[in-house]
Amino acid sequence: MIRIAVLVSGGGTNLQALIDSDLQHGKIELVVSSRSDAYALARAANAGIKGAVCRRKDYDDQDAYDQALIALLRENEIDMVVLAGFLSILGPAFIAAYPDKILNIHPSLIPSFCGKGYYGLRVHEAALERGVKVTGATVHLVNEIPDGGRIILQKAVAVQEGDTPEVLQRRVMEEAEWILLPKATEMLAEKLEEEKNASC
Ligand code: GRF
Repeated sequence: MIRIAVLVSGGGTNLQALIDSDLQHGKIELVVSSRSDAYALARAANAGIKGAVCRRKDYDDQDAYDQALIALLRENEIDMVVLAGFLSILGPAFIAAYPDKILNIHPSLIPSFCGKGYYGLRVHEAALERGVKVTGATVHLVNEIPDGGRIILQKAVAVQEGDTPEVLQRRVMEEAEWILLPKATEMLAEKLEEEKNASC
């Protein structure tokens, strides 16, 4: 079993989708929130999963924050990381500690509406402003380029007449994010489990 940490900052509906999915090759052992008031922490507690808070503002610089996160994950023997609406920036040290072992979900079809400044509702506002008829979600591996790592899964979602950013966000979550993230998590956990067994 691959030991998974899920990093969150908000409501945690993607975390809930992971909790509700029947992962065969991984287990969520830890939920780390960058905010102490994130509802995602309550979801973790309700599921009997250990929760922790690690806030960027409690550290002097990016590297100190990265080191604190790495230490927390190492203490819990975490093999793989899933970013599920995590809004703090991860620095090079953290990314190097989990090479090709960090997944992120982004609410658009990368390379559209991604990179610096495109997070949360802003992504859907930009899609509506541009007038696209199709948007969606992408799960990708995390490297040092924001939203630039290898794409693992994508799913398209139709934009409908009269959509507001909130309505579109909800549809993208329901039709794409909550399906893709558990699926990609299982795929990566299975691959890491095979590698782990091969090295034993
Ligand atoms: C999702 O739209 C995700 O794609 C984005 O942030 C949102 C998080 O929502 N990166 P939740 O906290 O999982 O409900």
